[in-house]
Amino acid sequence: MRKVAVIGAGQMGSGIAQVVAQSGTDVLLADVDIALAEKAKAKIAKSLGRLVEKEKIVAADAEAALSRITPITDYAAMTDADLIVEAATEREEIKARIFEAAGKVLAPQAILASNTSSIPITRMAAGTPDPARFVGVHFFNPVPVMKLVEIIPGLATSAATVSAVRTFAEGLGKEVVVSQDEPGFIVNRILVPMLNEACFVLGNGTASIADIDKGVKLGLNHPMGPLELADFIGLDTCLEIVRVLYNTTGDSKYRPAPLLMKYVEAGWLGRKAGRGFYDYSGETPVPTR
Ligand code: 3HC
Repeated sequence: MRKVAVIGAGQMGSGIAQVVAQSGTDVLLADVDIALAEKAKAKIAKSLGRLVEKEKIVAADAEAALSRITPITDYAAMTDADLIVEAATEREEIKARIFEAAGKVLAPQAILASNTSSIPITRMAAGTPDPARFVGVHFFNPVPVMKLVEIIPGLATSAATVSAVRTFAEGLGKEVVVSQDEPGFIVNRILVPMLNEACFVLGNGTASIADIDKGVKLGLNHPMGPLELADFIGLDTCLEIVRVLYNTTGDSKYRPAPLLMKYVEAGWLGRKAGRGFYDYSGETPVPTR
């Protein structure tokens, strides 16, 4: 790929932009407001700076990577992108609007991909100009650290599209797994019910936040406890994924935990909001229950 466009400059979009730029490819980083795209570039600069401090990369490579990233708002700049990766909010109506606009500038051979966590690829593909060139490419947070990329072909996705995005992901140094277009794909189908269950366990009063997280960290050797991880992913994103699992399967085992819904309604969305199951206003996160 010579040029990749990433739509959505949040934590996933900026992570994807960073690793693509580090692999030597030019990146257009788009958001609705140029200030958001510029802010994301500044965050990437910090992240690259930390890698230089740790002597993981040299300063010249960090500068070169940063210079490959162009913040934009106007999709017209994407006409010469080989790949457009949508990494916007996990809401289907928002993504549908993005695909409609991106479809108008998508080059004849270019691929349109979604970093969706769980929304069906086949359904989203139907609203794009060429479903054969539409595919799910699911990165994990934090993108520069996590080795995995899930590739999800929809019903109409061509083998050539799958092969091209596999080459792209492997070129970023990632490991690839391929999932059929089933709710939650592989990883979120397994992970998110566990996070939702942790919210039930907390809501039932079975244990405190600290003990739930300590239990899973030490008892299962996970790097983060489930409530800490849910805060890290964003409680709104977790809830959206549980809802997709519930609505697409109709299986009551995926019903969202009432406490998770309450936290989202309160705006306590996790780390990005400064408060979720933990309070992030001080030096170290403090459990809120
Ligand atoms: N960007 C770049 N590098 C980062 C980073 C970031 N945002 N955050 C951490 N790192 C690096 C650090 O620099 C450090 O590198 P080093 O070992 O080379 O010095 C390394 O990662 C470890 O970081 P820390 O020492 O600061 O902290 P931890 O050891 O606690 O690790 C963590 C942090 C990597 C986030 C670890 O806690 C972890 O792996 N947590 C689980 C993450 C996870 O499960 N992610 C998947 C979420 S699900 C998902 O994304 C799917 C979506 O659809 C919901």
